[in-house]
Amino acid sequence: MTVTRASAPPAAQEAAQAITATGLRKSYGDKTVLDGVDLSVPEGTVFSLLGPNGAGKTTVVKILSTLISPGAGSGGIRVGGHDPAVDPQAVRAAIGVTGQFSAVDGLITGEENMLLMADLHHLSRREGRRVAAELLERFDLVEAARKPAAGYSGGMKRRLDIAMTLVGSPRIIFLDEPTTGLDPRSRHTMWGIIRELVSGGVTVFLTTQYLEEADELADRIAVLNNGRIAAEGTAEELKRIVPGGHVKLRFNVPDAYRSAASALREVARDDESLSLQIPSDGSQRELRSLLDWLDSAGIEADELTVHTPDLDDVFFALTGSGVPARDNQPKEAVR
Ligand SMILES: Nc1ncnc2c1ncn2[C@@H]1O[C@H](COP(=O)(O)OP(=O)(O)OP(=O)(O)O)[C@@H](O)[C@H]1O
Ligand SMILES: [Mg+2]
Repeated sequence: MTVTRASAPPAAQEAAQAITATGLRKSYGDKTVLDGVDLSVPEGTVFSLLGPNGAGKTTVVKILSTLISPGAGSGGIRVGGHDPAVDPQAVRAAIGVTGQFSAVDGLITGEENMLLMADLHHLSRREGRRVAAELLERFDLVEAARKPAAGYSGGMKRRLDIAMTLVGSPRIIFLDEPTTGLDPRSRHTMWGIIRELVSGGVTVFLTTQYLEEADELADRIAVLNNGRIAAEGTAEELKRIVPGGHVKLRFNVPDAYRSAASALREVARDDESLSLQIPSDGSQRELRSLLDWLDSAGIEADELTVHTPDLDDVFFALTGSGVPARDNQPKEAVR
């Protein structure tokens, strides 16, 4: 199906937004899941929503993709230029959704699943076959295409699920944990496919439990916690807001460790692994002065490693999931 973008804004000085939502709310009974969530995703970019289990990521995806309605008091939503409350059909025509749980019908073959999607998108028989064959090939499912999907491995089902989402050539794609359960090779293949889609102008709204995935793919990342966006920015911006950068010195000999520890009184010690942690931003300038200082103090470590904060640190710091990410804490102990 071809999707025409409804009414292009008259003078789009800023990048057009594929998705905007203000003050999204949703409660189940007296449990507030979303408590005023604002989002905006420019066209042709990858936006990643992170958050601990139960934070409401799938709820956001379901609201934006018209599967459920937003709660009372929510602000406006626009997806692909349309308001889901006014014209849900137009929103549905513009989007593809791969849910967290598979939409694959196990009783029929992979190919039949694809052709069913082609029917739903009103593709002609010929076009449906062409698109199905192309996507089965792209997702490495040609060999399995004629077998019942119930016999597919988890990763194959996941690939088929995403291939089915792409049948209608949607301009906006919601992927709710698309790579959960995939092996590293399949995950990398999926990343390649997502990048390809985005370079063709598609907008991707991605939820993931793999912070590395958000780091790899997302132009912007938002962390959802306690019903609100706890922080939003590029991966680099988010990493800058948490402490955690440090240089770690490890010693083989307890005596050397002890004398270094007493010379460097301000640092965090780990007596068990004979290592010391010195807060540092990891810049060349700081490292040089640190090395000079160690030299002048006559300290020679057996191993020196530089740790910069990663998205795991950001995640733990922002979602308060009970796992500390203090910069005096050895990261190995954090995980
Ligand atoms: N239909 C429902 N009825 C009652 N509670 C619900 C319903 N759907 C979701 N919830 C609750 O809303 C909260 C958010 O759920 P949601 O599935 O959006 O979380 P999530 O961030 O996607 O989690 P996960 O990482 O585990 O997929 C959870 O506490 C969940 O139990
Ligand atoms: Mg979910």
